[in-house]
Formats: sequence, structure tokens, C-alpha cells
Amino acid sequence: MLKQLIFIALLLVSGISASYAQDEKAGSLSKGNTDIVVYRSPTCACCGKWLAHLKADGFNVTDNIVANVQGIKDQYGVTSSLASCHTAIINGYIVEGHVPAGDIKTMLKNKDNIKGLAVPGMIVGTPGMEMGGQKSPFKVIAFDANGQLRVYKDHSKD
Ligand code: CU
Ligand code: CU
Repeated sequence: MLKQLIFIALLLVSGISASYAQDEKAGSLSKGNTDIVVYRSPTCACCGKWLAHLKADGFNVTDNIVANVQGIKDQYGVTSSLASCHTAIINGYIVEGHVPAGDIKTMLKNKDNIKGLAVPGMIVGTPGMEMGGQKSPFKVIAFDANGQLRVYKDHSKD
């Protein structure tokens, strides 16, 4: 009987700590972690649409229109193979190009050990690059401080 009680008590404790950990993760997104600082050029229409996509998903966007976007990319080490129209910073991570808001949230939740995420180039059908119902397959790339790239999320079958 006593053994059974201890077992039940252990189950309860582990259940409580698991749900606490989940609350922590969910909570961390709402405590200022949604603050994203975006750098974009004045002439880019799709950038504005991506900002609207982020806002619709609950991000708090600081919009910086800069004359020299390339200077920002150089500053943050965004190479030409990763480069897109805009560069954003969130929680120390870099977000380059039309990365879906959901993938940014996943990165923040998982606290991935990467430098950031990128959708290189300008791909039709990515958030902010909608053109009717057209969709091109695309992949979100994760890059680390050593310049290593890997596919973070494959959206080619969305
Ligand atoms: Cu763009
Ligand atoms: Cu852009």
C-alpha cells in the first residue's frame, strides 16, 4: 500500500513539473520574446507584407527602413547564399527573408543552438510573397556561427 502511494505521489510530481515546464515555454514567448527588429529597404513592398504576417501572428515589430540593407547583413554575418530582402533580429537570433512566423516561434521555443533562420532569395508563396494561389517549394535554412547550413523546415509539400 505504501509503495503504491509513493508511486502515485511520484506520478503526480512528475506530471506537475512537466506541465510547469510547458507553461514556462509558452510564457517565455509572451514575455517580450516576440519583440522583433526588422531592417528593410524603402523600396521593398514584400517586406511590408512580411511585417503584416508577423504582426498577425502576435509579434511586436520594430520596423527600420534603412538605405543600406547590405550593411546590416554584413554586420550580422548574413552571407550572400542566405541573403534575402530584409534582415530581422529577435532574441539574439537572425531571421533573414520570408521565414514563416511559425518557424520563428519553433526556434524560440526550442532555444535552438543556431545563429538564425533564412529563406534565401525571394520565393513566391512564402509569407509576404503571395501571388494569387501560386506556391513554389521552399525550405527554411538554419545557419550556425560556423557557417554550417541545414534544412530547418521543408515547406515544399505545404
Ligand atoms: Cu521580400
Ligand atoms: Cu523583405
